[in-house]
Amino acid sequence: MVNHLLAIDDVSEDFEDILKWAIEFKRLWKQGDEVALNFLPLDTLAIGSIYEKPSTRTRVSFEVGIQRLGGSALTLLKNDIQLGTSETIGDTAQVLSRFLGAITYRCFAHDDVEALAEHAEVPVINALSAKHHPCQAAADLMTVMEHHGDTDDLTVAWVGDGNNVLHDLMLACAMLGINIRYAVPEGYEPADDVVKRTEAFADANGSTVVRTKDPIEAVKDAHVVYTDVFISMGEEHLTDKIKAFDGYQVNEAMVSHMDDAWSFMHCLPAHRGDEVTDWVMDHDQSIVFDQAENRMWAQMSLLAFLVNNGAWMAMKDFMGLI
Ligand code: CP
Ligand code: NVA
Repeated sequence: MVNHLLAIDDVSEDFEDILKWAIEFKRLWKQGDEVALNFLPLDTLAIGSIYEKPSTRTRVSFEVGIQRLGGSALTLLKNDIQLGTSETIGDTAQVLSRFLGAITYRCFAHDDVEALAEHAEVPVINALSAKHHPCQAAADLMTVMEHHGDTDDLTVAWVGDGNNVLHDLMLACAMLGINIRYAVPEGYEPADDVVKRTEAFADANGSTVVRTKDPIEAVKDAHVVYTDVFISMGEEHLTDKIKAFDGYQVNEAMVSHMDDAWSFMHCLPAHRGDEVTDWVMDHDQSIVFDQAENRMWAQMSLLAFLVNNGAWMAMKDFMGLI
């Protein structure tokens, strides 16, 4: 059976190990460890990445990470391939599976990445759909672990829209037993099925899930505050949407309600002056660029885990994580 990553709970059982692996591999690689530098689990494989929307972080972190793991990265922009114009997703999946070791896909409708996975014979990784952004959540929780260490009694607050980034963040927090509080305006709540999945993980791991419309209630004494753009890619025509987010900007006054050791997180790109001020973005306690860098390390762990699990396990053993 082929393992895919369409939402972060697809790797719920191994999630903590995938993150610990990424943290330790990053440390070894940066100190020039020969075993880490010569870890090439994608050797001889080409990994293809289809993009229907623009990307800076996802594209560059996948391309560089794939190269560092010995693979070759092939970026397939939607307008340059037959997908959607003269070929179905299913046929595209079958053709690409004959050439590639894995396929990453950034699309609009989540159904499309599900359809690609259904027909692919190699792992499919969701590189952002309207509903999920699992690679982001892996990098986010890796960053939380690096900055906050022990995740017991940690509270992450979300202030913003209830779509892709929140969905995987809330699942990922609950999978690690981290409390999650989310403030979203009426009409922009996360999907019911994702909330139910999150609550089930939180119950099993002894953490809490709190929903509110009041951003201050969400951030009070929290350790992390996270926001995202109010207008997502493809929603640019929704010119009135921003009005619903009045009072949701993460600014100096909002973070003054948090624990003194607060961190600010954002998946980026940020619309400075809308969902976050420069004061918060550029503050010492903003960890947004560590998050961006960790996209690569977390995805390297995910790629090795999904595409060459034996090599991932051997490296896990070498790093003393077994
Ligand atoms: N956070 C994120 O996915 O960024 P890009 O859109 O630049 O890939
Ligand atoms: N919610 C945003 C995330 C960008 C990384 C979007 O979908 O555009």
